[in-house]
Amino acid sequence: MSHPLKHWFESQKQTRKFHPAWIALAVSATLGVAGIIWVPAELVSRAEAPTAHPPPPPAADNKEMHPADMPTVIEQTPGPARLRGAKTIRVDFSPPADAAMPTDEFGEAVRLGKNIFTDTQTYARGYVGNKLNCVNCHLDAGRKRDSAPLWAAYVMFPAYRDKNKHVNSYEERLAGCFRFSMNGKAPAPDSKEMIALISYSYWLAKGAPTGIALKGRGYPKLADPQQPPDEGRGKLVFEANCALCHGADGQGTQVSGRYVFPPLWGQNSFNGGAGMSQIKNAAAFIHANMPLGKGNTLSEQQAWDVAKYMNSHARPPDPRLAKSS
Ligand code: HEC
Ligand code: HEC
Repeated sequence: MSHPLKHWFESQKQTRKFHPAWIALAVSATLGVAGIIWVPAELVSRAEAPTAHPPPPPAADNKEMHPADMPTVIEQTPGPARLRGAKTIRVDFSPPADAAMPTDEFGEAVRLGKNIFTDTQTYARGYVGNKLNCVNCHLDAGRKRDSAPLWAAYVMFPAYRDKNKHVNSYEERLAGCFRFSMNGKAPAPDSKEMIALISYSYWLAKGAPTGIALKGRGYPKLADPQQPPDEGRGKLVFEANCALCHGADGQGTQVSGRYVFPPLWGQNSFNGGAGMSQIKNAAAFIHANMPLGKGNTLSEQQAWDVAKYMNSHARPPDPRLAKSS
């Protein structure tokens, strides 16, 4: 009993307030708790780590398989979350084919919704204050990935939006595009037009999980531009890549009174409160989708520059800024 430590142990034993065996007990308990925390954390980080050779997408390249028959795949290698609030898991989803649209009363509403979406000027004329149709910015009847497709939007509402600082229903989100992008006034929540647009979106999202950012939602976010967006450079990009369809004056091209190429600015275009009037949204949309059929061919800098040029022109004012008398 000469060793000081041994001496300390003995004295502790005698006070009967402490037994050395408790140390062993405490150490094993600590290891046990650490294990409970560490093991799942390790599993999660493994699941999230990108693999060097991601498995090939199961059906995306299979031209023979009908999109409606393609399996829903939970990605093993999640890409960067594109939107605020997006979950880490990103799911591959394809909406059903038009041929699968039901023929009953519900199908009628879905069909009307598609008509309103693709030809808003005819089917919801009273609610529109410019010459655009919803499909002009949500390509392929609201189906195309990376152009804010309806199926990906539908499953993400209700959601809080910074734009109006409250939780928005899906219907309120649709109303926002009527008010700003279409420079109009939304149909009432229980109107046949609004119910039709919701029905069409709901039907496109058939089978998709709710509350998860599906692959292709919104527009792929661009990195900050290397050089500040520049109107002068943007004008050159516009003349070389856009004027052919949208007109040298950006007013679009009409054939027998109908716009085949929509106006990009001026009284017939979206207003100053629209998402597209923010350069970062416009640049992202343009980079992924324009020139039509040749998305992702402009450099990101070109997309920033031409977006800046487009939005340097006059357009209807943001209705939220209108003075109330
Ligand atoms: C001038 C272009 C433009 C037009 C026209 C337009 N939108 Fe949009 N829409 C946008 C932009 C920009 C966003 C925001 C996309 C984002 O946040 O990534 C958006 C977002 C949406 C969303 C939510 C998408 C999501 O994933 O959260 C829905 C739904 C929607 N629009 C429906 C409509 C409907 C219905 C119409 C026609 C009444 C319409 N839009 C017309 C540009 C447009
Ligand atoms: C080959 C013709 C063509 C070219 C070239 C083209 N666009 Fe478009 N653009 C379209 C069509 C058509 C639409 C509407 C898509 C639809 O309704 O399906 C559109 C839609 C748009 C929209 C959304 C609707 C609106 O009016 O605001 C923007 C913004 C846009 N284009 C910008 C550009 C820019 C910028 C360029 C050049 C980099 C460009 N486009 C080149 C045909 C073209």
